[in-house]
Formats: sequence, C-alpha cells, structure tokens
Amino acid sequence: MYKDLIEVAKKARQNAYAPYSEFKVGAALKTKDGLIFEGCNIENSALSVTNCAERTAFFKAISEGETKFEAIAIVGGKGDELIQCPPCGACRQVMTEFCDKDFKIILFDGKDEDVHTLEELLPLGFKL
Ligand code: THU
Repeated sequence: MYKDLIEVAKKARQNAYAPYSEFKVGAALKTKDGLIFEGCNIENSALSVTNCAERTAFFKAISEGETKFEAIAIVGGKGDELIQCPPCGACRQVMTEFCDKDFKIILFDGKDEDVHTLEELLPLGFKL
C-alpha cells in the first residue's frame, strides 16, 4: 500500500552520511496535501550531534512551511541489507509535536511493510 513512499525512502537513504555507525537510514515524509519530503541520517564526529533520517525529513518540511502530515516511511540497514528500523524516542517526540495520533509510520525490512500509528509507538506522548 505504501510501496511508492518506501521507494522514495530507499532513494533518500543513498544520501545518508553514516561513516561512524555505517547504518544508513532513509525516510520519506508525506504531507496531508500529498507532498513528499526526503530525509537521511547525518552523523558527526561529535556523535550526539547526529541527526536521524526522520528528523531531517520533518525539519526540512517544517522549515518549508508544511505542518500537516499523513505518513512517514523509514528504511535502514548496513550495506545493502535492510532491517526494520523503528524511530528512536527523540524522533517519536518530534512526531508527537506535529502529528495526530493516527499518523502512520511505515517500517520496511526489505521484504515486508509494517504500518503503525504514532499512538501505538508513543502512547501518552508529552504535548503542551
Ligand atoms: N538512526 C536514524 O536515522 N533513524 C532511526 O530511526 C534510528 C537510528 C540513525 C542514527 C545513527 O546515524 C544510525 O542510525 C545508528 O544509530
């Protein structure tokens, strides 16, 4: 169902900058208007400065004025092999800031896609 979004995430993954972990991640974020923003992980010698693929996609979209989101597809892995890559806690919190509880998070392990809602992945997320 989300085949096209997964393909965009795979393409975004090619730009990942991950010389330290060698774990490359790509994300494709779809707005409610149907626009798609790509993101990849961007690591740093000072490791804590690393930005995940999901947050790269969100920050690109938000900085371009987008605020309503429908779904994000995420792919990750070392080399050519993809494994399921659920978003980290920081990325889930960023999603909670900008998305409804029914925002869809699509995980692809190279074979099957798994669709989760934000409510499932971060119940009781903090929001002011
Ligand atoms: N990473 C992401 O980009 N997204 C995730 O959902 C999990 C982890 C990145 C951060 C780091 O560059 C590498 O994957 C290994 O943790």
